[in-house]
Amino acid sequence: MRIVCLPGDGIGMEVMAEAVKSVAVLLPEARLEERPLGAAAIERHGDPLPADTLEACLGADAVLMGAVGSSLYSWRDGPNPEDGMFRLRRELDVYANLRPSTAGGIDLLIVRELVGGLYFGGRGVEPDGTVFDRLEYHPAQVRRLVRRSFELAGERRGRLTSVDKANVLTTSRMWRRVVDEVAAEYPAVEVEHLLVDTAAMRLVEDPTAFDVIVTENTFGDILSDVAAALTGGLGVAASACVGDARVGLFEPVHGTAPDIAGRGIANPTAMLLSVALMFRFGLDRPAEAEALERAVAAARAESPTADEGGTATTRMFGDRVVSLLRHDGAAVA
Ligand code: NAI
Ligand code: MG
Repeated sequence: MRIVCLPGDGIGMEVMAEAVKSVAVLLPEARLEERPLGAAAIERHGDPLPADTLEACLGADAVLMGAVGSSLYSWRDGPNPEDGMFRLRRELDVYANLRPSTAGGIDLLIVRELVGGLYFGGRGVEPDGTVFDRLEYHPAQVRRLVRRSFELAGERRGRLTSVDKANVLTTSRMWRRVVDEVAAEYPAVEVEHLLVDTAAMRLVEDPTAFDVIVTENTFGDILSDVAAALTGGLGVAASACVGDARVGLFEPVHGTAPDIAGRGIANPTAMLLSVALMFRFGLDRPAEAEALERAVAAARAESPTADEGGTATTRMFGDRVVSLLRHDGAAVA
């Protein structure tokens, strides 16, 4: 079992260090290999996704990623850390980004299209200075994502909400057609269409009404931060990026948090819950996923990090999870 770890930059490195400790306890036979990605890779290799990093990921059983981004290299045209992450997602063809949010009565799953849409259409500058970013999809790209979402909804509470902007966008009208076509294959799943602005409002008003939400790349990025805010914040929001191939990419929703990076106070929960998603969706090890989720929940209740109102440092939290896992060992076996 080979797991490639891409700590990335900022708090990505800090939370990955804790993830590695838990994987070592839960799956001692796994070989963990670390590779640079993002600003760290630009500094060492002049490339945010070095060939060696990509090759290691393509040959792995699963990939864990922290976060990428830096004030030095981000937000500029030309090679930047985020490009490395987008290229990696595309190379692995992990087209479905699963972002679960649970808290109180809320239990929803956002399925965000990850390798197309506004993030991947052509962009550029016209001679007159106009700049553009294209939103484009082939129906086949939408169909595979929508199928996956119906399957996930079928395994959950059987409700799928497709989110678009069909009153304005041609891509959204095609998206709706595809959803309605695929719906015929899943009669047990109840489907509704919502415009993205309405969806944002409903999410805030009554998040318990949702089961699975499927949507375009940018819409999903925004809505999942809304969902995260309703269920504990970015410090606890995990995600799984999966495709049809074997290797998945598992990463927290948050970024490199330059405002707190280097202080050892980041919440490693989002990263640890992403490791749990790796066990569940990437390695087919549901018992390990549940053991880790239990340990993280116990550590959060006992002694949370600052973002959840506590005083635990990143390392204290990670160590507590490890010790809970050691004592809960029987439950895994
Ligand atoms: P961010 O997610 O890094 O931070 C937003 C806010 O949430 C900050 O106040 C931060 O302190 C807090 N936060 C985030 N994660 C936390 C954690 N684990 N524990 C405690 N507090 C946490 O988003 P921001 O500031 O917009 O972006 C910073 C950099 O990260 C940018 O370069 C951006 O492009 C990059 N980024 C990378 C992502 C990725 O690698 N997947 C995702 C989002 C942003
Ligand atoms: Mg985001």
